[in-house]
Amino acid sequence: MHATEHYIGRHKTELDTPALLIDLDKMEANIQKMADYFATVNANLRPHVKTHKTPIIAHKQIAAGAIGVTCAKLGEAETVIHAGIRDVLIANQIVGTQKIARLVNLAKHSDIMVAVDDAQNIQDLSEAASTKGVMIRILVEINIGMNRCGVEPREPALALAQQVTKSPNLKFEGLMGYEGHLITQNGKYYRENNTRLAMLSLFSTADHLMNNGIEVSILSGGGTGTYDITGSIPEITEIQAGSYVFMDANYRGVQGVGDKFDCALTVLSTVVSCPAPDRIIVDAGMKVLTKEFGIPQPIDYPELEMVELSEEHGKMQVSNGDIPLKPGDIPLKPGDKLEILPTHCCTTVNLHDKYYGIRDEIVESVWYITARGSSQ
Ligand SMILES: Cc1ncc(COP(=O)(O)O)c(C=O)c1O
Repeated sequence: MHATEHYIGRHKTELDTPALLIDLDKMEANIQKMADYFATVNANLRPHVKTHKTPIIAHKQIAAGAIGVTCAKLGEAETVIHAGIRDVLIANQIVGTQKIARLVNLAKHSDIMVAVDDAQNIQDLSEAASTKGVMIRILVEINIGMNRCGVEPREPALALAQQVTKSPNLKFEGLMGYEGHLITQNGKYYRENNTRLAMLSLFSTADHLMNNGIEVSILSGGGTGTYDITGSIPEITEIQAGSYVFMDANYRGVQGVGDKFDCALTVLSTVVSCPAPDRIIVDAGMKVLTKEFGIPQPIDYPELEMVELSEEHGKMQVSNGDIPLKPGDIPLKPGDKLEILPTHCCTTVNLHDKYYGIRDEIVESVWYITARGSSQ
């Protein structure tokens, strides 16, 4: 038995802290809700593993109807493939001898697919796949406005697609266009129209390839913020949404998304000090919470505001308008526990070794985040 498993069956407030909690009912409802949506449209769901980094959750998503998973990194792909998942897209470029060697090894055990945007990389992948005697499935990534990776639409994309079709041991599957610059844009109509506009360059490129005799089987893109925008376009075949499984304070504020999925992930913390009438300090700082999308806030205590994170401390202030506070006014004392809602679920998860799965306030499971830190 792992040192932490003796918590199973106990109330969540008995957990030592800081601890990463999943409300299992809410997570399962999110998985089911997304699966129900994809049962009604042409596109399939290929959920992104970067959010949870944990095979059991990927298996739950597949059991609910997802066709496979998306990964950001080889390390994530290795984790899920070792856990028995075959249909895996690495929605990133895999570059360099060592990484390409790992990729072709994975192709022995899976139907791995990878994004490309460079001619030399295509040649390197083909040579390594030929030497190993495996087939690698390829998506050419198109820059549809995010200005991150991706070749420009139409002519440059055609040149790469033609190269892939002629390269031994590579199978051209289609195109990927990720609208990451639009994914949390408020409000819904604005995001919807901008997304459809961005997707035009993907479709125009797909038409261009088909007019040149290249079959385009897969058109992949989308995230939680556009699952029902990009996902509703009949030509799109796959959506890469990740955050919907847990949600967070950032996505909760996105119109058309925050009202559909529930926040299932929290960090349980302990009050370690109440050194002033208007100040409380918890044991959750930036080593267990991230703040690139804003400082995370406690749930259940609207009068408390987290104002600062240092490495291992979270500083909260009690807001009481202009009325001075007296000792005892703060509703918490050292030793009390409170839950904090992350502002970015994906980067928060990456700071933790394990989840405690909670149902009806009781610890039901401990799941190790086996791809945590797999950034290589
Ligand atoms: C390539 C790619 N696809 C999809 C996503 C969607 O993720 P989410 O659903 O968490 O917004 C991301 C997010 O970073 C991404 O980088």
